[in-house]
Formats: sequence, structure tokens, C-alpha cells
Amino acid sequence: MSISVVILSAGKGTRMKSDTPKVLHKISGKSMISHAIDASKKISDDITVVLYHQAKRVKEAIEKEYKDIKFHIQDVENFPGTGGALRGVKPKYSRTLILNGDMPLVTSNSLKALIDGDGDINLSVIKLDNPSGYGRVVIENRTVKQIVEEKDCNSTQKEIDSVNGGVYSLKSELLERYIPKLNNSNSQKEYYLTDIIEMAVEEGKIVKAIFVPEEEFKGVNSKLDLATAEVIMQKRIKDNLMLNGTIMHLPDTIYIDINASFEGESIIESGVSILGKSKIIKSHIKSNSVVEESIIDNSSIGPMGRVRPQSHLKNTHIGNFVEVKKSKLDGVKAGHLSYLGDATIGEGSNIGAGVITCNYDGKAKYKTTIGKNVFVGSDTQIIAPVNIEDEVMIGAGTTVTRDIKRGSLAISRTPLKIVADFFYKFFKKAK
Ligand code: UD1
Ligand code: MG
Repeated sequence: MSISVVILSAGKGTRMKSDTPKVLHKISGKSMISHAIDASKKISDDITVVLYHQAKRVKEAIEKEYKDIKFHIQDVENFPGTGGALRGVKPKYSRTLILNGDMPLVTSNSLKALIDGDGDINLSVIKLDNPSGYGRVVIENRTVKQIVEEKDCNSTQKEIDSVNGGVYSLKSELLERYIPKLNNSNSQKEYYLTDIIEMAVEEGKIVKAIFVPEEEFKGVNSKLDLATAEVIMQKRIKDNLMLNGTIMHLPDTIYIDINASFEGESIIESGVSILGKSKIIKSHIKSNSVVEESIIDNSSIGPMGRVRPQSHLKNTHIGNFVEVKKSKLDGVKAGHLSYLGDATIGEGSNIGAGVITCNYDGKAKYKTTIGKNVFVGSDTQIIAPVNIEDEVMIGAGTTVTRDIKRGSLAISRTPLKIVADFFYKFFKKAK
């Protein structure tokens, strides 16, 4: 589609009260600016992000994820404000869509509605019960006349409940002509982009109000807004997954990263978190389990299981209080209370309760390899690096310090001593 997009993100974001730039705060695992870029990418191949505060940090974060974004550094010292942000921006196409970097909930469908409007300028307008904080849109005889910022409103204007959603689609030529003409004679001494509306109206241009859903266009300014937006985003993610065949128990208690993907029919019980780029294929994730950046294929986890990054579980069951990290388990059962880190475990192997792979000596991490059909008795410690071949049995309580050959039994135990009637002697009681 031949439209340029400009995303305004130069503001300081003071209300966020954070050292992290506002637009880098994440919602469901993706930064706000990335949400805005993703929605923009669906409609445009010419995207410019306007930056100033912590520009380097924001630019680097964006460049890590996207290759083809243009950047413009606003001259905030001399030209503060949303109008100042557009000075020097050069859209490639004859129409431009302007949006804010702090609107992570905007969908490309709503952006399309703004593009499809037939005004010289299409302006996003929200109807709000409480319009405070927003620029008011003065509409007379169904035509937009001007936008008045709250701080410049008289008492009648303050009553207007149609507010500027902050997203515009307009002829690029108008930007080119109007932006240099803006002045800062207003209460905030800023160059307001919104003043171009009046300029267009005076020239007889058509300014169309496009009414848009409040939910999508509300800006995220504080950490409270951030949490509110996340609830909405989570609902979208989970509704979509359920409609595509995933079963969820008490979905309001489940957290799913936007980068996670699901295949086939899975069951996700209450209190589960699926984080990062995880992939869940036909699996059952039971209550209060956490899966992070891992592939879970035809497996069951939990309740209260934890799978940490770079793990791959296939045809496997891990039970309560089992932690798996950077490990590959294929056809394995580990039912209770284990730590399996930097391990590869083969088909048919059974990991008893309390088995620990001791993968760290305080300096470096070491690998454990366990073959097929290995029986690891409860409370075994495996001091990595170690290689346990197929069809091995390890007695409960063993400390494995060497490689074990195929078919062997390994057992290390302190001999049990039993002293008869010791109790009665010790407490000087009669039997
Ligand atoms: C702006 C609109 C207001 C609208 C509201 C919708 C103006 C003058 N007002 O107000 O009518 O109702 O958005 O949310 O446009 N930014 C820059 N450079 C700047 C200042 C801001 O890039 O010098 C960016 C910010 O990073 C932000 C966006 O522009 O992404 C909006 O800025 P903000 O200060 O939030 O504008 P509002 O006062 O909310
Ligand atoms: Mg704002």
C-alpha cells in the first residue's frame, strides 16, 4: 500500500516514572514501539520513527528487531511538541499516517479505516465520558473546525466529549506546507501538530472525523495504563488461541507472551505462564506451571513445573517441582522434585524423585547425557560432565561421578548400620 507512516516517540514520558524509555516498556512480551511498528508494517513499507529522549537506546532496540525503519531525531530544543516532531520528516508517498509510539493496542484494521476515509485529512476521534487530558475536536455542522488542546480550552470547549485520538492520515503535501508555518503561541509554548487542522479548514480542505474505538487509541502514559493495556492485550491473545482450539481453564489467570505459538489441541490450566518464544504442541500444561522460551511437544507439565529457556520436551512428562533448563527430554518421565539442567535424556528413561544434575561447579556449566531406558533412582546426584549410556540402572541415593557403561548398575551408598534397642538406652526408658 502506498502510504508512509510516521510514529511519534520523542516525548519524555515523564508520567511513566522510569529510567527505561516509555516506548520500550513491554506489553505481553513486546515493546510498545514494536507493537506500533508491527501494526504499521501491515499497511506500509515506509516507516519513520521520530526520537529524541534516549534516542540511541530506542534506536538500537528497534534496529535489533527490524531492518528497514527510518529514524528522525527531533530538534526538541528549538521545536518542541508534536508539530515540531514532524519538521524535517520526509515521507516517501503522497499520503502519510501519523501515530504515537505509545498506542500498543491500535490494530491495523483501525489504521486502515483511517486511511480509507476520503478527507484530505482523516482524523481519529474518540467519544469519551471523561475527555480530560485530550485535545477537544470542535465539530460544527458535521465538519471538523479545529482541535483545541485541553490547556488552551475555554469552559465551553472543555465540555466537548469528542477528543483527538492522535492518529491522522493526510496528504503528505499538506504536512510539507503546514509544518513550517506552525507557531508556538499557546499555553505550553509548543508546536502543536493539531494546529494544522485549522489551517486545512481555512484553505477549504476536507477534514473527516473517523470515530475509532477508545480501547485501541488510549495512550499508555503510566505504569497503571501499562497494566490496563496488558489486560486487554492478554484477552486478545487468549481469545484468539481458544478460538483456534486451545483449551484454557480460568483464562483470566493465565499469562501468554505474544511471541508464543500453539499447534494442535493443548490444555492450559489456571495460573500458567507461557513466556518468550515458546512453542506448545498438543500438550497439557497443568496449574501454576511456567514455560519460558521452550518447545513442549506432546508432553505434560506440572502442576507447578518449571521449564526454563532452550529446553525441548517431546513425549515427556514432568511433574510437580521439576525444573528443566536448557535440556532435551525425549520420551522421559520425571515426576517429582528434580533439577535437570544442561541435560539430554533419551526415550524410556525414568528420573526418580529428587534427582539433581549438578551442572555448575561455581565457575562453569557442564553437560549430562543420559541414554535410553535408564532408571535413575530417587535422590541421585549426577555430577556433570557425565555420560550415562543406554539401559543403565542407578540405585537410589547414588552420587554419580563417572561415566556409566551400557547395561550396568551404578550404586554408591554409605552402608546402613542398625543398633538394636539404642532408643531405650539413649532415653533410659523401658522397652
Ligand atoms: C496529543 C494531542 C492531543 C491528543 C492526544 C492523544 C497535540 C498537540 N496534542 O496530546 O490533541 O488528544 O495526543 O493521545 O498533538 N511527541 C514527540 N515530540 C514532542 C512531543 C511529543 O515526538 O515534542 C510524541 C510523544 O512521544 C507521543 C506523542 O507525540 O508519542 C504524543 O505526545 P503527548 O505529549 O502524549 O501528547 P498529548 O499531550 O497527549
Ligand atoms: Mg499522550
